[in-house]
Amino acid sequence: NWTMNDFIDMKVDEIRKEVGDKKVILGLSGGVDSSVTATLLHKAIGDQLTAIFVDHGMLRKDEGDQVMQALNKDLGVNIIRVNAQERFLNKLKGVTDPERKRKIIGKEFIEVFNEEAKKIKDVDFLAQGTLYTDVIESGTNTAQTIKSHHNVGGLPKDMHFKLIEPLRKLFKDEVRELGEKLGIPHDLVWRQPFPGPGLGIRVLGEVTEPKLKIVRESDAILRDEIKKAGLQEKIWQYFTVLPGIRSVGVMGDGRTYDYTIGIRAVTSIDGMTADFTKIPWDVLGHISDRIVNEVDNVNRVVYDVTSKPPSTIEWE
Ligand code: XMP
Repeated sequence: NWTMNDFIDMKVDEIRKEVGDKKVILGLSGGVDSSVTATLLHKAIGDQLTAIFVDHGMLRKDEGDQVMQALNKDLGVNIIRVNAQERFLNKLKGVTDPERKRKIIGKEFIEVFNEEAKKIKDVDFLAQGTLYTDVIESGTNTAQTIKSHHNVGGLPKDMHFKLIEPLRKLFKDEVRELGEKLGIPHDLVWRQPFPGPGLGIRVLGEVTEPKLKIVRESDAILRDEIKKAGLQEKIWQYFTVLPGIRSVGVMGDGRTYDYTIGIRAVTSIDGMTADFTKIPWDVLGHISDRIVNEVDNVNRVVYDVTSKPPSTIEWE
């Protein structure tokens, strides 16, 4: 619509005036907010922007590649991708407490970003995908404060950048609309919410690469089948979790002793409260068959039928 086009023209103008011929960096998480911010800045100042994509290795299946394809290859945004999974997994070794896991992932994200940022000379500005809801909620509501610092929010303290936050006045839906207007594919900008710590909080307890793989693969099957069933835009959030318990099963002539996968799907407006979604049994049955057949080391699938409260949406 015309207002969004006006917004783009206005922001492009503003950014050009403010930045002049200086350099800007941005931390790309793979999420919608930082992706749209990067694309908008690219439109305004081209290669004066360097986006640093810290891939913590806990994104959904193929997500990192999709972001690179859409933003870097198709739209030309200058992106340095850092594949940092090993670093994150090393830091997470032996750690089981959910909040500690979050803190470690958030801190490591900033550290990787800082290291890369230091390699770029003469940078004046740091761009961030802060939204209106981040602005009004930060510091007031405890749940949100707990969450905010796990996102790409940490300012490198020893560097003195000027901040650019072009989405500060926008709500999430407007950011998605803006992203589409800027040429980011529909499926990318309208993705369901995904937590900053990613699959790291969907592997319950200690995070290891084999366990991440189980969650990543089962989640991909779930998303594929939800899409095929035409439920993609009807369910607010849906994903799989790996509780880490193992149980007995049968396969061919033998007994198995393997992992259980939990499916979580909720209907919600803002994530503060949520109802479990009544996915049709036949769809669930098909998802379960596929997960057990296609994902190694899984012999059982369970469905989470609790709402929030008393449960949270995530299991950690
Ligand atoms: P809960 O599990 O608290 O989740 O009911 C509510 C919403 O917040 C998301 N979530 C997070 N997002 N960092 C984030 O960026 C986090 O650490 C985090 N924990 C939960 C969750 O996916 C749901 O959409």
